[in-house]
Amino acid sequence: MSALPAQQTGPGEPFLIGEGMTGGYGAADILHDCTVSVRRGEIAVIVGPNGAGKSTAMKAVFGMLPLRKGRVRIGGTDITGLAPQARVAEGMAFVPQTRNIFGALTVEENLEMGAFLRRDDIHATLEQVYHLFPILRDKRRQAAGELSGGQRQQVAVGRALMTQPQVLMLDEPTAGVSPIVMDELFDRIIEVARTGISILMVEQNARQALQIADRGFVLVQGSNAYTDTGAALLADPEVRRTFLGG
Ligand SMILES: Nc1ncnc2c1ncn2[C@@H]1O[C@H](COP(=O)(O)OP(=O)(O)O)[C@@H](O)[C@H]1O
Ligand SMILES: [Mg+2]
Repeated sequence: MSALPAQQTGPGEPFLIGEGMTGGYGAADILHDCTVSVRRGEIAVIVGPNGAGKSTAMKAVFGMLPLRKGRVRIGGTDITGLAPQARVAEGMAFVPQTRNIFGALTVEENLEMGAFLRRDDIHATLEQVYHLFPILRDKRRQAAGELSGGQRQQVAVGRALMTQPQVLMLDEPTAGVSPIVMDELFDRIIEVARTGISILMVEQNARQALQIADRGFVLVQGSNAYTDTGAALLADPEVRRTFLGG
């Protein structure tokens, strides 16, 4: 059998996968053999009730939670033992659910902070972020904490993009924004995915999120309840009845 280079993954395989993850914050496990993944350039969405372990699964994939079982791989490389910072160097960016920007810093300072690991010229990436989120260019000298909720989320996503990630992980990027702002943010996320960046995101707006998802994971009590394409989950009567309000 010929060995493949570690970095190589086939087109149908996940680019990022947290596989069979079991673990929690203390003695009790929150995740039970939980698997989430995303393919290259695709959008994968994690949905499920409050307290299901969605954020915990994201933290586990990013290396913020010790796993008792399971592993995390990116591009075929096992990164289970890596600290979050080292995962950033491997191409991961994570926008947590809360406290994801520096409110006292300007918009541009926030974006520059996102690139702190880089040693090359960040100007072109900054331009890309301003192209994606034009309002951030207008407000680049303003304190990020003064912006609206939707604009602050744009700062958080923009800051993550400044690392030039291969996979962008978003925990409830549309929390607390209006439906119009949500639609707009989803459009931008689709645009990011079209550039080849994989998106793994948690969403409270399950129906809308599954509409843009190539793949969906329904988590319940730290376990995978349903996994399928976004379209199949939306069409599944059981999923609709239990998780999507009919
Ligand atoms: N830092 C923490 N320490 C201890 N328990 C936590 C912590 N964060 C979350 N939990 C618990 O883990 C479970 C899953 O939480 P979470 O992953 O935040 O769910 P979700 O994001 O799906 O709403 C909940 O029971 C929650 O109380
Ligand atoms: Mg959460």
